[in-house]
Amino acid sequence: MQLRELLGVLRARWRTVVACLLIVVGVTAAVTMTTTPSYTASSRVYLTVNRPLDTLRGDPGGVTVMRYNDLKTLAEVLYSPTVMEPLRAELGLPPGAGVGVALLISENASVMDVIGTSSDPQLAAAIANTTGPILAKVAVQFSPLLSQSAPNATCVPITKAFAPGLPTTPDVRRNLALGILIGLALGVGLAMVRHALDTKVRGEADLKAASDRPVLAQIPLEAGAAARPITLESDPHGAHAESIRRLRTNLMFVDVTTGKHSFVLTSAMPGEGKTTTSINLALAIADAGSRVILVEGDLRNPSVAKALGIEGGVGLTTALLGRASLADVIQPWGDTGMSVLAAGQIPPNPSELLGSRPMAELFEKLAADFDFVLIDSPPLVPVIDAVLLQRLTGGLVMVVAAERTRKKDLQTALTSLQTVDVAPAGFVLNFVPVSASDPYRYGTYRYQQGSASASADPRQARLKRQSADARASSGRRSRRRT
Ligand SMILES: Nc1ncnc2c1ncn2[C@@H]1O[C@H](COP(=O)(O)OP(=O)(O)OP(=O)(O)O)[C@@H](O)[C@H]1O
Ligand SMILES: [Mg+2]
Repeated sequence: MQLRELLGVLRARWRTVVACLLIVVGVTAAVTMTTTPSYTASSRVYLTVNRPLDTLRGDPGGVTVMRYNDLKTLAEVLYSPTVMEPLRAELGLPPGAGVGVALLISENASVMDVIGTSSDPQLAAAIANTTGPILAKVAVQFSPLLSQSAPNATCVPITKAFAPGLPTTPDVRRNLALGILIGLALGVGLAMVRHALDTKVRGEADLKAASDRPVLAQIPLEAGAAARPITLESDPHGAHAESIRRLRTNLMFVDVTTGKHSFVLTSAMPGEGKTTTSINLALAIADAGSRVILVEGDLRNPSVAKALGIEGGVGLTTALLGRASLADVIQPWGDTGMSVLAAGQIPPNPSELLGSRPMAELFEKLAADFDFVLIDSPPLVPVIDAVLLQRLTGGLVMVVAAERTRKKDLQTALTSLQTVDVAPAGFVLNFVPVSASDPYRYGTYRYQQGSASASADPRQARLKRQSADARASSGRRSRRRT
């Protein structure tokens, strides 16, 4: 996986990462807060033995520092009753009470660190300071050589232990850092697993993972679309028509950057909704008062004319062959402001035709005569036509079928665009399942519109919208025409 793809997955599935992070940090914080604090104090001592004068053995007497082996023996017997009982008594602890004590013995220096641990900082310091003298008292019992020469040893403190201000555990900073690290690792891992296991494009997140181009609209799955594909006419207040209008608005913003006012709609594979979306989008643009032409760019499997119920036998190829003028083959779609250029006769060489000079000239003419040019096209993975059409327009919009398009196919399509240096203007996620809880679902939306407009004749409703939208866009149109 390339870094770009990894970042895309993380951007798309950031919620998973954040959720894991919050859960792990939350659990860490809870564990940290409920952990009884433990304090540690340490003292450093050395043990000495006073040897009396022994003329018989020729020992002049003096002070001997206890060596590593003797100190090691003491460490071994530290938890024996011989040490623990007097230690508990000295500390005022009941018999059998646990005492947190440990010895650190240096092999080279004959010194000993006594570590006291307790939930009470005072007691931790007391343990560290008391253990040394107790060990000195019992030391000779465990060293036959020492016991011969001296009755007991003396503990000489080097550094005393003090009650610590902060607990040793829990270490809040360390725990928090660990929590963040583990949470992030878990989140990233989970996001990758989820990404790898899902082969279909499910939602916006998958599109964001595949590309950094914007999602221009999410178009809901419309139950009756197969029978009535022109939802802007059949159900202008439905969720489908509404999402198409949202697409129109967002496309206008993209249009500002290209300034070409023409787009080709394509998809990775067949049947993802290019034609349905193109027709409705063209109508929505016409509704806003623009003169728009919908061009059948799918010269292999033309379906615009069929969906609109108009003559498809004359059109683009007819004009290219010079058998009719362009004006003669353009068909207005009622009084909507939308015109249609059907495919005409299906050519044997669509790609060559689309890439030809006469085709470029024809599109230049269309761009000059209309405010907006929309082109329906064949899918990208099987044929290159959409790329050729993109060269004639300002941008390419990629329609993706939610829950249907395979990520692999989408990636193939995007890669084929990348190789010719084309970035899609944006995505349209089609067939988005409408959940019952979605406030924009069909029924709820209708209710929000009010009963009057909901029951109104679609044609009247369109006229109403048209006048409102036209007011908004009249400034732009008048500027372009002058
Ligand atoms: N949002 C939608 N909800 C339900 N059905 C839809 C939706 N969009 C398109 N359809 C239906 O899906 C089918 C395919 O749509 P369409 O013909 O627009 O796809 P296409 O991408 O143009 O296909 P092709 O690649 O064959 O040209 C049609 O029956 C259409 O009515
Ligand atoms: Mg089609």
